[in-house]
Amino acid sequence: MVKIFADTANIDEIRTFLQWGMCDGVTTNQKIFLAEGGVDFKGRILDICGLVNGPVSVETTSSNPKDLLAEAREYASWHPNVVVKVAMYGNGDGLAVVSRLSEEGIKTNMTCMVNFSQLFLACKAGARYVSLFFNRARDAGEDPVSAIRNISTVIKRDDFKSELIVGSMRKTTDIEEAAVAGAHIITIPHKVFVQLPLHSKTEETIREFDEAWKKFKGIQTVRP
Ligand code: E4P
Repeated sequence: MVKIFADTANIDEIRTFLQWGMCDGVTTNQKIFLAEGGVDFKGRILDICGLVNGPVSVETTSSNPKDLLAEAREYASWHPNVVVKVAMYGNGDGLAVVSRLSEEGIKTNMTCMVNFSQLFLACKAGARYVSLFFNRARDAGEDPVSAIRNISTVIKRDDFKSELIVGSMRKTTDIEEAAVAGAHIITIPHKVFVQLPLHSKTEETIREFDEAWKKFKGIQTVRP
């Protein structure tokens, strides 16, 4: 079954996902934290881990493998639900770090990826999650639907342990495309998530049925 992650570090937003029974995990990144203003980073991650019964991705920001490894080990020590995000650096540093963390049993989410070759290498490196940025891929002229279809086929065929997260969702139809193509997980920002159940025709239908029910209640007869 396709899982839904909340692509936010905002507690109220995460509560919406939880209230709707649709929060299998959470993804965060540097921009998501910037949007939260001056919150305590570790404190907020621990608050999220206390709320959500699932993986919580925390992104590394160091600029060399040694520091990335130290940062990753630190985040992983905070809570068993923490998954360490490592970017797909073009020089292979991210792959080296993910390979090493995978040997140490630390769960990783290889991130910022836009095409099949990056996803494939991340799976080979042992990333627990591999993240495709759907609309950023389209911005770059890549074909994210084909990448999702192909990597999910290879993950299944070769029995890779990685799960494919599709992020960078901007509109409701992105979720349909990602789910049908074969995403294992779709991470959704709150502003897109709350649009998913909403349709003007559904609202109109509910109003019409409510009116009909009021009329029926006014005319119904009750058997003695
Ligand atoms: C996923 O892990 C990322 O946090 C996110 O989906 C990136 O999306 P953006 O393109 O809106 O920054």
